[in-house]
Amino acid sequence: MLYHLLYISEESSFFDQQRDMEDILKTSQKNNVSAQLTGILIKNDKFFIQLLEGDSKSVEKMYTKISKDRRHKSIRKLLEYKSKERIFPRWSMGYVNLDSKNDNEIKLKEIIPFIHKDIIKLKSSKEKILSILKNFNSAS
Ligand SMILES: Cc1cc2nc3c(=O)[nH]c(=O)nc-3n(C[C@H](O)[C@H](O)[C@H](O)COP(=O)(O)O)c2cc1C
Repeated sequence: MLYHLLYISEESSFFDQQRDMEDILKTSQKNNVSAQLTGILIKNDKFFIQLLEGDSKSVEKMYTKISKDRRHKSIRKLLEYKSKERIFPRWSMGYVNLDSKNDNEIKLKEIIPFIHKDIIKLKSSKEKILSILKNFNSAS
């Protein structure tokens, strides 16, 4: 069984979009391949949303490491679940910057402030986020 973990966090004052985003993606792609982790990292002007998928030990270990990264703060798990399949089997860490205007991005942009303010508490609403994320895969 594969383990999936979805979290949201907020960029900190240590984060520099130009310098750090490239570094995070390079490091992620290298480390995630060897840890057999896949997933997607979404960034808007303020928040990160990341889905990590892999075996439970690798996901937890990576989440612990990522949680300690000073470049973001207020990290909060949104969903954890088991499933047989990966959503992003081909992405060691896909990256989506929510700056364009396709439908998936607009949907996510609208939902992010609500997630952050904890307005979305119901599991079904969180699963809505997952279903939006899944669309990014089919669009790839
Ligand atoms: C929002 C965010 C997401 C990250 N995602 C990953 C990831 O998926 N994989 C990874 O190896 N590092 C990720 N990092 C970076 C880690 O926190 C850490 O800097 C890195 O894994 C250190 O790699 P090293 O031990 O090879 O130097 C992320 C950092 C941030 C701020």
